Amino acid sequence: MHRTPTMSEPLRTETPMHVGPAPPCTLVIFGAHGDLTKRLLMPALYNLVVAGHLPDAFRILGVDHNHDSDEGWRRLLTETIHGFAKDPTAEFHPDRIDEGAWGFVRDRLDYQKGDFEAEETYRSLAASIDGNAIFYLAVSARFFGPIVDRLGAAGLLREREGAFRRVVVEKPFGSDLASARDLNARLLAQAGEGQIFRIDHFLGKETVQSLLVLRFANRILEPAWNRDHIDCVEITAAETIGVEERGGFYETTGALRDMVPNHLFQLLCMAAMEPPASLASEDVRDTKAALIRSIRPAVPSEAVRGQYGAGDDAGHSVSAYRDEPDVDPGSTTETYVALRLMIDSPRWDGVPFYLRTGKRLSGRRTEIVIHFKDPTTDLFDAEAGLRSGFMRLRIDPEHGVATTLNAKRPGPGISLGQVIAGFDYGDFFAEKPTVGYETLLYDCMVGDSTLFQRADMIEGAWAIVDPLIQAWRAAPVVSYPAGSDGPDAANALLAPDGRAWSRLDGR
Ligand code: BG6
Repeated sequence: MHRTPTMSEPLRTETPMHVGPAPPCTLVIFGAHGDLTKRLLMPALYNLVVAGHLPDAFRILGVDHNHDSDEGWRRLLTETIHGFAKDPTAEFHPDRIDEGAWGFVRDRLDYQKGDFEAEETYRSLAASIDGNAIFYLAVSARFFGPIVDRLGAAGLLREREGAFRRVVVEKPFGSDLASARDLNARLLAQAGEGQIFRIDHFLGKETVQSLLVLRFANRILEPAWNRDHIDCVEITAAETIGVEERGGFYETTGALRDMVPNHLFQLLCMAAMEPPASLASEDVRDTKAALIRSIRPAVPSEAVRGQYGAGDDAGHSVSAYRDEPDVDPGSTTETYVALRLMIDSPRWDGVPFYLRTGKRLSGRRTEIVIHFKDPTTDLFDAEAGLRSGFMRLRIDPEHGVATTLNAKRPGPGISLGQVIAGFDYGDFFAEKPTVGYETLLYDCMVGDSTLFQRADMIEGAWAIVDPLIQAWRAAPVVSYPAGSDGPDAANALLAPDGRAWSRLDGR
């Protein structure tokens, strides 16, 4: 029987469910010398070893076009991983590297030089791989189709004698609805949907996965989670960094394609989806797909695109987007997007969802803010200090929930003040959130597709933003100073509804 902890007794979390090692397999990484491999995949593999989730019979085969050797690649990655431990700004920054765990990964690294478009590369892969294999495409999107075509032609995607063959595709998955459809068709000509794992790293974030639990494991929330009680929902992914070294990629991508139909829509799904029939992967994905189908296509007059000009980042002058390396000085690529979306469903009818994302903003903040309607009684008013309540679901860099409530200020008479009820995951759970790729890699190894995008979800998301992509081909972009909260036009998007964006400093 459950026992309720007393006030003096600290809450303890349950011991996590045991998750065993993944089945034996070869992980083939196309893009062995790339940034993603160094920055995210290797730390994730290392963390999986520390957690005891990698099997002994595991091999990592790196493929890239540069000259290298097994030993050279191992040395390079060993230096990088040790570098992270010394760099407090690194995404993966352990106190120290456990040499035993890193040794486990290191000893399993092999390198194969190969051109991604040469048949020879795939002939030698076929000769060296046996049994279960995962082909991870950590490469530029232009190689996704060509690599999968050749994997298929070489018979590397045929699943024989119970062995699995899976392909992991990074984003961007297409650049609009038409190209995403073509890419899906091209991939599905070589492999079944169940063999394709389309990554959206936001889904690997603990704080994103936790939203499903928060919403559906707490009876207190579900009755209020609808149009009767919720006034609007805000979804923000604000960054303080600029495009850094990625100008070449970003010029043809822009903030809309980079963040909206993928990352922001994953947050939207978690906030707005119906309860799935079960936690089985297809039930969860069906429910998300149903939500995506019920979102109305975006309306260009209800969207804003901005680009950062010169400004300030924490006291340092920073350049305008147009002066960044590999960016056209006359570029009209957007580095900021804000839009209003409506969902046609009984739960959300009439509730606007405001989404915004941008680079070089005043604060780093990924969060969903649920704004509640005012109380049904008129006992208190704005004059007495009544303010609408809201719940902040903090994804990054803080991890937790903060709900703003009205409370009586101590003293005579009735005067209201706002208090915050909330928690940080770190206050209750010893386990630290990981970089997210651990879960995604592990799930792919065990064949759990729940956290991966299905073809229909990807196409549905592109269909929603396609009107903006079309309208923005010839549209101007408004400027905002680096270090600000974005263009003024974004405020004008909410003002007619009598609403305003939450501050990026979290207050
Ligand atoms: C990536 C985008 O997918 O997500 C980047 O390409 C963006 O432009 C990044 O900076 C944001 O992810 P996170 O996990 O740092 O919030």
